[in-house]
Amino acid sequence: MYGSDKGTDDSERTAFRRAEKKYKLYYDDTYKSSKKKKLPKQVDLSEVIDFKRILECYNQDGALPLGVNATKCDLDGPVFSLENRPGFYFIPGALSLEEQCQWIRESLKDFPQPPNRTNHNAIYGPIQDLFIAAKEKRVLVEDNEISASNVDSDTEPSVINGNSNGWKFVEENTVSSRRGTCKSVPASALLRKLRWSTLGLQFDWSKRSYDISLPHNDIPSALCQLAKRMAAAAMPTGEEFKPEAAIVNYFASGDTLGGHLDDMEADWSKPIVSMSLGCKAIFLLGGKSRQDPPVAMFLRSGNVVLMAGEARECFHGVPRIFTDEESEEISLLEKRFSSRDDLHFLEYMRTSRININIRQVF
Ligand code: OGA
Ligand code: MN
Repeated sequence: MYGSDKGTDDSERTAFRRAEKKYKLYYDDTYKSSKKKKLPKQVDLSEVIDFKRILECYNQDGALPLGVNATKCDLDGPVFSLENRPGFYFIPGALSLEEQCQWIRESLKDFPQPPNRTNHNAIYGPIQDLFIAAKEKRVLVEDNEISASNVDSDTEPSVINGNSNGWKFVEENTVSSRRGTCKSVPASALLRKLRWSTLGLQFDWSKRSYDISLPHNDIPSALCQLAKRMAAAAMPTGEEFKPEAAIVNYFASGDTLGGHLDDMEADWSKPIVSMSLGCKAIFLLGGKSRQDPPVAMFLRSGNVVLMAGEARECFHGVPRIFTDEESEEISLLEKRFSSRDDLHFLEYMRTSRININIRQVF
């Protein structure tokens, strides 16, 4: 989405790209010919900063590794910062389990709802109730094809959640009887391929800018309040953070977010507030040039990162998410999603990560 690096010639050209390549998911081909499940290649994680461990040590005896500082804000725990990355803040226990569940639910059910846009808009137009359609195993079909096939059919297809763009959700069985005659895609596949949704002011990925002419809702007020509370640690004194837009990123196994800058907002003294939900990830925080070697750190569910001031000028990205049981670190979340009603959230989150990053645009 941010123009990831293609082609092997370019892949090792900068320190940032070398780090991306180091941490990216590769599969071990030792078992290629056997029927065994493919295993992720082992990666050396010894240089990845682990703020969970840092917090444990800090809580025990106040000790901190060289180059890491801690401050107390109005939050329950400390806010960590890095001496060599001014403007960057890491809040380990930012979101309670309850809050994590709430934002996961909203990210899947509510945030992709029109007028918010998603990566599916370009092909299918606005899609209503994608999560429910996936849960109920519906299929998105091209509308004119339904009408065409209706000519020689007695039965009405059961059209649910129609939209104006020529695509509609229908029950699974109405599609199988028309196999081959209409373009169709299961809602579950669309949910798996959801890559982003935008809240508040809508970001236009093709122009890489905010398009204020697009219809939009305000950022939900609970998210607004949360972002303001988190942002405080990085705000110039006496100023208030005004959340105007958010980008929600959805990661599946193997997905990456290539090194980039978020430079389309007017005032870089204001932080980007970035929340992590679901599977553990590696975050790379580089310098102002891609030639600067990035620091790597783990991002876990419930962590919040702030990037303000000089850190706004630093390349950053996510080269890896961990979806295998040993390293995803979502067992507490899984427990919270263990009731029957939550089965679909549980299934999705077992192999996914969601990132909500909230911005003041003007
Ligand atoms: C972004 C971003 C980081 C993350 O969307 O601009 O940097 O943790 N996301 O997913
Ligand atoms: Mn970013």
